[in-house]
Amino acid sequence: MTDKITTDTITRSRLTRRTLLAGAGGLGAAGLVSGFPRPAIAQGAPYKVGLMLPYTGTFAKLGQFIDNGMRLYVEQKGGKLGGRAISFVTVDDESKPENATDNVNRLIAREKVDAVVGTVHSGVAMAMVKVARDTNTMLIIPNAGANDATGPLCAPNVFRTSFSNWQPNFPMGKVMYDAGHRNVVTITWRYAAGAEQMGGFKEGFAKAGGKVVEELTLPFPEVEFQALITRIAQLKPDAVHAFFAGGGAVKFVKDYAAAGLGKTIPLYGAGFLTDGTIPAQGEAANGIRTTLHYADNLDNPANKAFLAAFKQKFSADGDIYAVQGYDSGALLDIGLGAVGGDAAARDKMVAAMAAAKIDSPRGPLSFSKAHNPIQNIYLREVRNGRNEMVSIAQANVEDPARGCRLPA
Ligand code: PHB
Repeated sequence: MTDKITTDTITRSRLTRRTLLAGAGGLGAAGLVSGFPRPAIAQGAPYKVGLMLPYTGTFAKLGQFIDNGMRLYVEQKGGKLGGRAISFVTVDDESKPENATDNVNRLIAREKVDAVVGTVHSGVAMAMVKVARDTNTMLIIPNAGANDATGPLCAPNVFRTSFSNWQPNFPMGKVMYDAGHRNVVTITWRYAAGAEQMGGFKEGFAKAGGKVVEELTLPFPEVEFQALITRIAQLKPDAVHAFFAGGGAVKFVKDYAAAGLGKTIPLYGAGFLTDGTIPAQGEAANGIRTTLHYADNLDNPANKAFLAAFKQKFSADGDIYAVQGYDSGALLDIGLGAVGGDAAARDKMVAAMAAAKIDSPRGPLSFSKAHNPIQNIYLREVRNGRNEMVSIAQANVEDPARGCRLPA
């Protein structure tokens, strides 16, 4: 078996040799200025974070941007969260649920991480939640929307900084109804997140008075959309609502436009359809309306500072995945800060994280009793090569957390 675990620390990770040497010089200088070296024991060992993310496959860019966002936050805090030095170890989960239990167990049992941050794919995340519950490991989910993670499987040691699959889709029901659409076709991958995202949309759309006339699916992560696009052309619905992300979203949006449907049957989606993907989708993405807990041009200081810092460090535009990674750093910072870096004080750490109020690039971010974000869901439209906010589709959206037994 190939070993996909790589270990690095914040000072060594993804930095150029020049920055590395400058950093080492800086440390040496600090040691001299203080006159004598501080004993390592007094500072404690670094708090070890296992990043379990897809670094390959259709969600590779999503995983990399979460990783980038989290490291950016830690770097901005001088390599420490809550005053405690942070080290990282990464594992490529390849978005493969069948390997998920082994992968997370290796991080916990062999690498002895203090916390796991991951992942993107709902099926992989469900395996991670089960292991985190069994081993009482701190888990922060920086993307995967599996409703159950903050529903029946909610737990004190499980937090999510992203969304539940229900969350960005429910508000879209009213948006599409108000736009005059009555008969809608949905299309997605056949896996947990696809079903749950479409479930949230259907609930919102039925409540508004609309009807889903057909639900089209294909296996994850396939991208042979042609037969399904032909079916949409036959059905002639008022509009289409889609959930795809990453490489799959790029291809779907291009195929939809190439089939000429973009002009006759408007395409909507959960915001993942166009987040982090517009450069690859090009013209085909223009005018697509989606709902998500972020928009590129949100006019708040936290977003502007985040986007500028991200661009400077990674020479790329930040997106929702980078924001979720960044906010995972912020949440851990609050938890470790509350206990002076002493992660053994778990109850106090969890209480501080549960009560966190984060000034996120996405706008105000707080957490429900199930540890899922309470956040605005924005209606966005692709214009000028980015997802621009049209309106707040629904403010302070809280997932219903059906089945969660944690006390409020
Ligand atoms: C998921 O599997 O939960 C998932 C994956 C990619 C996204 C959103 C949700 O962009």
